[in-house]
Amino acid sequence: MLDVNKIERAATIIRDGGLVAMPTETVYGLAADAMNDGAVARIFEAKGRPTFNPLIAHVAGAEMAARFVDIPPLAETLIDAFWPGPLTLVLPRRKETALSLLVSAGLETAAIRAPAHKTARALIAAVDRPLAAPSANRSGRLSPTTADHVRNGDLAPPPDFIIDGGPSAIGVESAIVKVDGDTLTLLRPGGLPREAIEDAAGAILQTPPQAEQPEAPGMLASHYAPSASLRLNATSAKNDEAFLAFGDRTDDGSQATVNLSASGDLNEAAANLFRYLHNLDERCAALAFKAIAVAPVPNHGLGEAINDRLARAAAPRE
Ligand code: TXA
Ligand code: MG
Repeated sequence: MLDVNKIERAATIIRDGGLVAMPTETVYGLAADAMNDGAVARIFEAKGRPTFNPLIAHVAGAEMAARFVDIPPLAETLIDAFWPGPLTLVLPRRKETALSLLVSAGLETAAIRAPAHKTARALIAAVDRPLAAPSANRSGRLSPTTADHVRNGDLAPPPDFIIDGGPSAIGVESAIVKVDGDTLTLLRPGGLPREAIEDAAGAILQTPPQAEQPEAPGMLASHYAPSASLRLNATSAKNDEAFLAFGDRTDDGSQATVNLSASGDLNEAAANLFRYLHNLDERCAALAFKAIAVAPVPNHGLGEAINDRLARAAAPRE
């Protein structure tokens, strides 16, 4: 249920330049006033985030977005089809815009999305400004899908306030699409399947070029990482491994097993992904296990986002 007092308290903190962890339908975000440089700088500090990594501005809808970015026809089509929801659009910043330059980290574009979660929408409406909000985790670590993940996480300093909106329904971050005239590029697969975006746009999503400086630095190889290491495409766990199962690929051998979706439902698997990785990570620490073996997950629908996050969590770390 929507708690009006909590929304008001959170809105006051944000207006004063503070940080609030807010639930969204994808993952929990660490929100600040996107027009206040000092507040946005505080997000980078709390996350320990490299300052070249730009943030998503969360808006009420197309009207608020149009104050900050140019919206070409193809973007409008996607907005009509999917907002509010798990789709972020990267669009050219307007020349005269009050959006903090830090949000774009020096780029001439800004990432904008209208979240669907009631609490996030109420908070944006109460502040009546766009909210800059990356996932509410320390940079490079697992994204939070519950208020407890944020509370037990290592944001430093911690948020001024955490709004508990229950577990995130989708469980993986938004899909990020860059709109450049008639060209659409999928910068990050996410909570809206590629197939749905291509259908609505009537266009194929391009793959970003492998630049040295990644265009969406959430695209850095190692990301979304638990403390334990990950071994992908495993049929079963070794005796010192936890097991993250999918579908009928269950493993009776490991002392620590969870199944992303016993029925093989990719939406259910996405919703469980980060919560189960958090859970297995804790159990690995308790059992002195070093690794989590992960069953294969099909690569269609939300499977593309799940496999993307798993690959990054498994990537070698600095
Ligand atoms: O579902 C989500 O998108 C969540 C919730 C809280 O809304 N937010 C989220 O934010 O995942 P964050 O900061 O963890 O990821 C934002 C991604 C980063 O990979 C960043 O590099 C990319 O968006 N990004 C932001 N602005 C960009 C821009 N102007 N051009 C290209 N990529 C951009
Ligand atoms: Mg993140």
